[in-house]
Amino acid sequence: MDQSTYVMIKPDAVARGLVGRVVQRFEDAGLKVERMELGVVTAQQAAANYAEHAGKPFYDGLIAYITSGPVVKMVISGPDAVTVCRKLMGATNPRDAAPGTIRGDFGLIMDANVVHGSDSPESAAREISIFFGE
Ligand code: RTP
Ligand code: MG
Repeated sequence: MDQSTYVMIKPDAVARGLVGRVVQRFEDAGLKVERMELGVVTAQQAAANYAEHAGKPFYDGLIAYITSGPVVKMVISGPDAVTVCRKLMGATNPRDAAPGTIRGDFGLIMDANVVHGSDSPESAAREISIFFGE
């Protein structure tokens, strides 16, 4: 059965003109873009999305970064979409991400690692609700 996940192209990648190529990766894998919207993440949305990281040393920078400019918010669906999207994205630190993954091919900086994807079906439901309000 198809699953839905929340994927977000982060501010640096939008600013660098990578939107088309990043979306292409998910579509090439056979996944479907169900919803897509360009917009700026509010402070409230950022805090809700990254609540698990509150209090960590990188938290303030993470919130400042994710609200710093337009992002592309997406709902992506397909078989095992949560796991498949994370696999296509690659490791959190782009320097560790394998070539052929989105982060491995387009990123070099931990704080600006191109793309976000939900880490579980429960996170996906929560994040879709945060960003698309349902
Ligand atoms: P994301 O939530 O953005 O999809 O990334 P992720 O699941 O792969 O990684 P996560 O552990 O959820 O971390 C969220 C974002 O915080 C930054 N980070 N910095 N300096 C550090 O130790 C550190 N750890 C995480 C990254 O930008 C990561 O995407
Ligand atoms: Mg995460």
